Amino acid sequence: MEALKGLILSGGAGTRLRPLTHTSAKQLIPVANRPVLFYGIDAMVEAGITEIGIVIAPETGDEIREAVGDGSAFGASVTWIVQDRPAGLAHAVLTARDFIGSSPFVTYLGDNLLKNGISGLVDSFREGESDAMVLLTPVPDPSSYGVAEVEEDRIVNLIEKPEDPPSDLALVGVYMFTPSIFEMAEGLEPSARGELEITEAIQALIDRDMTVDYEIVEGWWKDTGMLDDILEANRLVLEEVEAELSGTVENSAVEGSVVLAEGAVIRDSTVTGPAVIGAGSLIENSRIGPNTALGEDVVVRGSSIENSIVLAGSRIEEVAATIEASLLGRNVRVGRRQGSSEAIHLMVGDNSAIEVT
Ligand code: TTP
Repeated sequence: MEALKGLILSGGAGTRLRPLTHTSAKQLIPVANRPVLFYGIDAMVEAGITEIGIVIAPETGDEIREAVGDGSAFGASVTWIVQDRPAGLAHAVLTARDFIGSSPFVTYLGDNLLKNGISGLVDSFREGESDAMVLLTPVPDPSSYGVAEVEEDRIVNLIEKPEDPPSDLALVGVYMFTPSIFEMAEGLEPSARGELEITEAIQALIDRDMTVDYEIVEGWWKDTGMLDDILEANRLVLEEVEAELSGTVENSAVEGSVVLAEGAVIRDSTVTGPAVIGAGSLIENSRIGPNTALGEDVVVRGSSIENSIVLAGSRIEEVAATIEASLLGRNVRVGRRQGSSEAIHLMVGDNSAIEVT
């Protein structure tokens, strides 16, 4: 088989993660202090795929390019492909046609995370002779996913969000293709939500009697397109971090797996792992963790944070209630107002979400 290329889809609108996606790409949201996209690039390289195309949107592409560079930091060579509008996954794949040429390729959604990577899937595809291969995982609520009807090792039907699911096997965001997918994608009409759907392109392969095989995911899989899933991904990745205290700990209790980057200070506080605290951060008179990732130069004073992600440069000071299951963007300030009023005082951007008791 010709050498496989990789295609990571990192365009899209990211509407479900506003307001963070007003100013930044969702694929750069950090999970355990590392952009989610980086895990996808690692997974490709681990599977022996080093020629990688990354599809980006005009609005957020520059920031992604800057973060990834030319790919050499990952052991890969990256080609940038701009998709002019978020017209669907099959449209994104079509946009990459010149980059892919006649090679078989793996398509990976840039906001997805798989515990065990994609090496197993890529190897089975290399060994087999199928026209496409997809990854499936059993889910408790199949009617919110693309669901596969399978017969032995083949997929015989794909249904998007079925009312009466034929199985509990949902499509995961990793697809192995041969260039035959381009012709199928070209023949599609926009769906009800106005997108060219990758499930319909795969269904078109099945309808033409081409073989679409599948593998079942082993280990967890997360699509980080929504807040709860990002927090869950953060928790799952943090489970695997090993303690490393490069910063300073003064008069504090640090328990469990805690990564404290250089220049970070924990003072008069309790930090319960798993947790990661970025370089230059300051934790004072506070309680952090578990399952919490604080980015670089974050300040937490007189406050408690658990099961949360806080991005670089944010300050949380003297907040009486525990901050829980939260995602704070960059340079956010959460604090207590001077004075005795019970009222809360907010300056919040468009599409933010705040829950108070
Ligand atoms: P989705 O999460 O399905 O779509 P989205 O990014 O537009 O988000 P939302 O539904 O919240 O508005 O996309 C999965 C991945 O594929 C993600 O990394 C973005 C990428 N993508 C593209 O590259 N091009 C596209 O046209 C679409 C729809 C998604």
